[in-house]
Amino acid sequence: MPTKPQDSQPESNRSISIEVDRAEVEQAEVDRADRSFDAIADHFEKKVYGGLKGDIRLAVLRRDIFEYCTQMSKDLNRPLRILDVGAGLAQISIELAAQGHTLMINDISENMLEKAKASAEKSDQVLDITWHVCPYQDLAGKLTDKVNGDKKDKFDLILCHAVLEWLAEPAAVMSFFDQHLTDNGALSLCFYNPASFDYRNLIMGNFNLLDNPEYKADNKKSLTPNYPVAKEEVESWLATHHYKTVRTSGLRVFHDYAPLKRGGHNDPEAVIRMELRYSQLEPYKWLGRYLHILATR
Ligand SMILES: C[S@@+](CC[C@H](N)C(=O)[O-])C[C@H]1O[C@@H](n2cnc3c(N)ncnc32)[C@H](O)[C@@H]1O
Repeated sequence: MPTKPQDSQPESNRSISIEVDRAEVEQAEVDRADRSFDAIADHFEKKVYGGLKGDIRLAVLRRDIFEYCTQMSKDLNRPLRILDVGAGLAQISIELAAQGHTLMINDISENMLEKAKASAEKSDQVLDITWHVCPYQDLAGKLTDKVNGDKKDKFDLILCHAVLEWLAEPAAVMSFFDQHLTDNGALSLCFYNPASFDYRNLIMGNFNLLDNPEYKADNKKSLTPNYPVAKEEVESWLATHHYKTVRTSGLRVFHDYAPLKRGGHNDPEAVIRMELRYSQLEPYKWLGRYLHILATR
């Protein structure tokens, strides 16, 4: 049966439906919670890191982070203390540990960190890694040595990759960074770029999704983030918290948009080479599915 257009509803019915809508919005606000990946660890591993998508993501992050760490470590004349918040499978952190740095690896999800530990165990080097399964919000309490009371709560580098968009209060993580970075410390912040959602749906003709700003994937396994944050908003947080941007990159600036795998798209190494090149070029980088900002204080 066709539903009546809103305007032809009697006044009293309209106010009831507005109240119901408001109640739904208020309930959704109350229900906001950080998203643990416990239930989707296998799905995430396969979907995100089981193919070229993940290889591109890691290639750009390695290029951006490793060179910077090598220089910082040389300047300080010691290995770095690095914290990875919401580390998931922790590939980059494990590689940094293999380069000799001291790592603290955190995730709210035990299943994700079990997978990360299993890959760390495969390393033939002795890795200096401390693991903490807990919300990052509980980490502060765990950073004091229980035996001698020493505080070890400052890091030269904090990695926070693809976590922001799963947090109920994403802006709150900025105070955590302030509290736990050394004076010259660096922040490696990688986050989902909401502009890429619009652009991909424009290309795919999914105009219905763009016409419906309330759209939320109801699929429990969906990897479309719950609380995406626009680049401009992240940049304003960084400015308010007195960070200076060292470099910005786009991750997957064209790969996800190509419906037709032709020419160079059939050569994964060539795709990674081009993604690396265009990840740093204007205007392409701003269309990356994720953006990476490396910033210092
Ligand atoms: C999309 S995954 C990203 C994993 C990894 N950083 C990467 O880039 O591949 C997001 C991760 O954040 C974790 N997470 C969500 N809320 C968290 C919180 N409050 N504290 C710590 N980890 C959290 C999830 O369990 C999940 O492993």
